[in-house]
Amino acid sequence: MIFLCALDALPEGETRGFEFDDISVFALRRNGVVYAYRNSCPHLGVELNWREDEFLDADGGLLQCATHGALFIAETGECVAGPCLGKHLQALATQVEHGAISIQL
Ligand code: FES
Repeated sequence: MIFLCALDALPEGETRGFEFDDISVFALRRNGVVYAYRNSCPHLGVELNWREDEFLDADGGLLQCATHGALFIAETGECVAGPCLGKHLQALATQVEHGAISIQL
């Protein structure tokens, strides 16, 4: 597992992006659970966000790709609208221990 950030650095309901060499990932925290995904849209393989640390749609309920607007369920990464309907973001295993978030790349 690779250290991602302190749990306090990912407040409830927020998303945050990270770079590991050439690998882009992001994490979100919802209802106390931390989720992490590769930052790569299943449609064209581009990064989802166009603003730093912003991966949610306007009402904050779903993850959104900024390029063509695909929407994804935050907890599963499943695309529920847009050109990659039915495909999934690549989920990463996460671990929260002693106030630190780690992920498996
Ligand atoms: S690149 Fe994400 S919806 Fe097209």
